[in-house]
This record gives sequence, C-alpha cells and structure tokens, in this order.
Amino acid sequence: MIPVKITDGVFSLRANDWDRKLFDELVPLPDGTSYNSYLIRGGEKTALIDTVYPPKTAEFVAALKKTGVERIDYVVANHAELDHSGSIPAVLALFPEAKVVANARCWRMMGDLMPLDRDRFREAKDGQRLSLGGKTLRFVFMPWVHWPETMGVFLEEDRIFFPCDFLGAHLATSELYAGDEAQFETAAKRYYAEIMAPYRVQCRSALARVEELEPAIVAPSHGPAHAKPKVIIDLYRRWTSDAVKPEVAIVYVSMYQSTAAMVEHLTDRLMEKGLPVRLFNAVDLDTGALAMALVDASTLIFASPTVLTGPHPCLAYAAILVNALAPKTRFAAIIGSFGWGTTMPDALRETLREFKAAFFDPVLTKGAPTRETFAELDALAAAIAAANASLGESEKPTPAA
Ligand code: FEO
Repeated sequence: MIPVKITDGVFSLRANDWDRKLFDELVPLPDGTSYNSYLIRGGEKTALIDTVYPPKTAEFVAALKKTGVERIDYVVANHAELDHSGSIPAVLALFPEAKVVANARCWRMMGDLMPLDRDRFREAKDGQRLSLGGKTLRFVFMPWVHWPETMGVFLEEDRIFFPCDFLGAHLATSELYAGDEAQFETAAKRYYAEIMAPYRVQCRSALARVEELEPAIVAPSHGPAHAKPKVIIDLYRRWTSDAVKPEVAIVYVSMYQSTAAMVEHLTDRLMEKGLPVRLFNAVDLDTGALAMALVDASTLIFASPTVLTGPHPCLAYAAILVNALAPKTRFAAIIGSFGWGTTMPDALRETLREFKAAFFDPVLTKGAPTRETFAELDALAAAIAAANASLGESEKPTPAA
C-alpha cells in the first residue's frame, strides 16, 4: 500500500484486499475490493477522509507515515460502517490532537461499534464548510447510501468529491482511476445491485446532489476514482431509473428433473418470442449475478419443487434475497412440481412481501410435467411476452443507456 498523489496536497491511501471473497459473509467479491482513505493537506490543517477496514490498519498506518504527515487535525468519517471507520481508534491514538468530524448520527453509530471519547468529536452539518487553509471541505449529507447517516465531502478548490460507498465498486486495483470501462462497469453494477439498489430512490437524491457539485474527480472509498465522473453518473442515472429491459430471469432448483423440464420448456418458448432469458441455479447461487440481473430485468420467474409443503430451501433463500433487494421488476411467476400436495406458491409470496411485481397465475405439476403442464407454460410464456410488449417507451431504457 502506497500513498498516490491525486492533486497537490491530496493523496489516495488505498488498502487493496485482493483475496477477500465475501463481503458481509454474503456478497461475492470476484475482483476483491479496496478500502480507500484520502489525505488532504491544507496550509494550516490536515484532514483524513475515511479510514480502512480494521485488518488493514497496520498497512494503512504505515502508508500514512510514508506521506511524512506529522499531524492530523481532522478525521472525517463519512460513514460509520467499520470498513471505513474501523481504523479511527488507531489514528486517534497516533495523532492525539485529531478530532473526528462526523454528523451526529454517524458519531452515535460509531459509538455503538467502538470506544470513542466524546472530547474527540466535532459535529459536521449539511452544507457546512471546514477550512484547512487553501483547501475547503464542504459536507454533503446523502442519507441511506448506504446507511442512514451517510454523507460525502466536497473539496472545493480541487473539485474532488468523496462519496464514501456511493458510486464505488468492489474492485481491487493498482490504478488510481477507472480505466477499463467494461471491467469497471461490471464491478460497479455488481456493487450497485448488491449494496445500493434497495435504496434506489435515495440514490437518485444523492446523485442529484453530486451533479450539482460538478466535480472534476469523484473519489469513492471502494474501488477506483473517476477522472471522468460523467461515466459513473450516467450509469447510476440509468440503474436508478424506473426503466426496465424486456428480459426474463429464472431462478430455479430441481431435485428429480420435473421442475428442470418446466424451466427448459418455458425458456425455449420465451426465446421463441424474442425475450432474453437468464437462468440462475439457486443451489450454488451467485447472489451478485442475480442482483445484477434484477437491476434491469422486467420479469422474474421462481421455479421450485415442493419440499415439506414449501419451496426448496435454496429457492427460499433466493426469495429472501429478492425481497430484501426489492428490485423494480414488473412481472413475476411461480412454477414448480410437487408430490402429493403443496403450499409452495403461498409460502413464496409470503416471503416476497416487499417485492411489488405483478404475479401471473402459478403453473404447478403433480409429479413430472404433462402435456397439460406444457400447455400452461405456453400460455404463461405468451402472457409474459404480451406484458413485456406493453411496456411503455418511457419504461424502457433510453437508447443511450
Ligand atoms: Fe463500505 Fe457501507 O460500507
């Protein structure tokens, strides 16, 4: 880990976590992640924006020392989550004069997570400025991207915006700026889908605040910074919009191939009607891949055998995830097989309370699918195609997207 200059007096301190495989023991990290802190040296004061994940504290402190900094006056905490606040106690111990600058809610939340002395707190208010001498920090409250206390910091003279989680990506990289746009877009979309999508409406408000600032650089606390902020802003505008794509995601489990045969039949009929289809086997579900599909897809199908009267537990897990993500999916259906009786569709619908898609009638088969089952699936495919054809132009992404 090395300090990397962004502009005069502004340094990125990025702790790459190349090997981390899961975030929150839930979110797959195919490209690792990073925890980014930023050092800002003004003519009179020095500030640190965010810190890093506790296991990275030793290398973070070593990199901080490499900058030659002898005094830190302010540690700005944009977000209480420990991947950004976790090294604050170590920084406070190293720099006894340093104050933690945070909004009141963030301070309270950090106090729930680590021992902090109230004397070290300086409250940040929305829109308030803090001068470092030739470098002015402006606090920009952006609640719910990702927790209720989240905020960003705008460095006025350099026009750098530090949004913490917002506009970030789980991507370990040696490059200061996002370069390979294809790789970056996938990582940023995965991150948005898993972390930000449940707060889609709040993301829109935060995005408007970022656009008002007209930053020259956006420097989040995960993944690369953006020397062309328009790229990530345009992506977020598309992802947070109400627009959906006429695409079908099918999440499924099959034990004796009955449900699998139904999925295969439905997939073929949907493809014949020109609808893109993506299948996700819930047994070894990549939750990030499913979440990414649900950023855009108009339609989601749950396909499950009945196990002890309800859905297969792996499918139930997928449903819990979908319910939590609350995607903007418009249409949904439940299909599957059972042995002698089932409450599977009702149980899934109960799990999916916050999932507001319109459901088609379920298609169920007792044992292996029959000619009648396949006819019902044909009708379901036709209904899905008709529903997608009826999507208004305003509901589809713009050509530029
Ligand atoms: Fe990267 Fe919400 O913490």
